[in-house]
Amino acid sequence: MDEPFVFPRTNIKVRNRSVLAAMTNKQSHQDGTISDDEIHWLALRAKGGFGIVTTAAANVQQYGKGWDGEIGVYSDVHVPGLTQLAREIHQHGSIGLVQIFHGGMRAPEALNGVRPVSASENIEAGMEESSRALTHDEIESLIQDFADAAQRCEKAGFDGVELHGAHSYLICQFLGTVTNRRKDKWGGTLQNRARFLQRIYEAIRKVTSHDFLVGVRLSPVIEKAGITLSDTLEVSRWCKDWGMDFLHISCWDIFPLHTNEGDEEKTLTRWFTDDLKGTIPIITTGAIWDRADVDFAIGEGANLIGVARAGIAHPTWPEMIRTKGEEIQRPPFHPRTLRHAGLNETFISYMKRWKNFVSEDE
Ligand SMILES: Cc1cc2nc3c(=O)[nH]c(=O)nc-3n(C[C@H](O)[C@H](O)[C@H](O)COP(=O)(O)O)c2cc1C
Repeated sequence: MDEPFVFPRTNIKVRNRSVLAAMTNKQSHQDGTISDDEIHWLALRAKGGFGIVTTAAANVQQYGKGWDGEIGVYSDVHVPGLTQLAREIHQHGSIGLVQIFHGGMRAPEALNGVRPVSASENIEAGMEESSRALTHDEIESLIQDFADAAQRCEKAGFDGVELHGAHSYLICQFLGTVTNRRKDKWGGTLQNRARFLQRIYEAIRKVTSHDFLVGVRLSPVIEKAGITLSDTLEVSRWCKDWGMDFLHISCWDIFPLHTNEGDEEKTLTRWFTDDLKGTIPIITTGAIWDRADVDFAIGEGANLIGVARAGIAHPTWPEMIRTKGEEIQRPPFHPRTLRHAGLNETFISYMKRWKNFVSEDE
């Protein structure tokens, strides 16, 4: 994991193979500007040796907010904070990516004051209101919002953006057959369902410079959204053909074997690395903690190794893997440990919602 990685199209060099995956941490201000606490938490991971540091999912449009404390990138008001963050990430030798997204059907009216939008009218568990289908003009305007957001990220000094096409947020809602039942050019065939992603990608390329990295995070399978492994493999091939700089597959757990409409069983990572054959850099993430896990992911062909929870508890995780790879403490963690790791109280109480992550004894 210690070897550097070079993104082929841009020659941007990453000092090692570790990626801090996007993590919502609730530390941003009400208006979406980033707080000093949030800058501190991410800069500490850059200082701790991560090759790439990704921000939490940042909404590209005022009404796309999925939760309180979310970072925004929908206005120039957000640029100064992001500039400071990019500067600090670079000072410590990491590459910085902003994960950009829109909550779609998961952006509650209680938070945004408007009915949620999606590819189609959908009901999200736990939310009072159903989404309404976006109009064609609204889709075009949202594509522009993604492009404007990416342009802001570049202006702020970030090295690139990760389009959040995973976890049932808006891009993912367009990709899935259950959440996208449109009859126009944005729905129906896989090509139509992927058009929103493609157009976002193309719009970003038009307004950012040659060296700006643009990649996508995809969920390989989400049954309830109608996302299948074979569709995601096909979309990934297209992402490569369109010229994306990386593909980040969100596995949640990299170890189990999966079939794909047949008998053959492989890990999710292996399905993608076998299919794409080194034609696009692949980040894989999910349940990676120690050196054996890292070696497993690399053995499955991943180019870059993403961690979320390990990076919360261990700001110097890449360095720990190098020096004492098998002795990485796993959850639960005492709040004191998390404070020491640079989390503020809001983030710590959010982590209490992640089963078994924070120990009770305080
Ligand atoms: C606190 C927390 C917040 C997360 N927020 C995001 C997010 O904003 N965007 C995203 O794509 N994934 C998010 N995830 C998922 C992680 O990026 C990662 O894919 C998942 O936790 C599995 O990796 P891990 O086993 O290393 O934790 C979040 C995970 C955690 C634990």
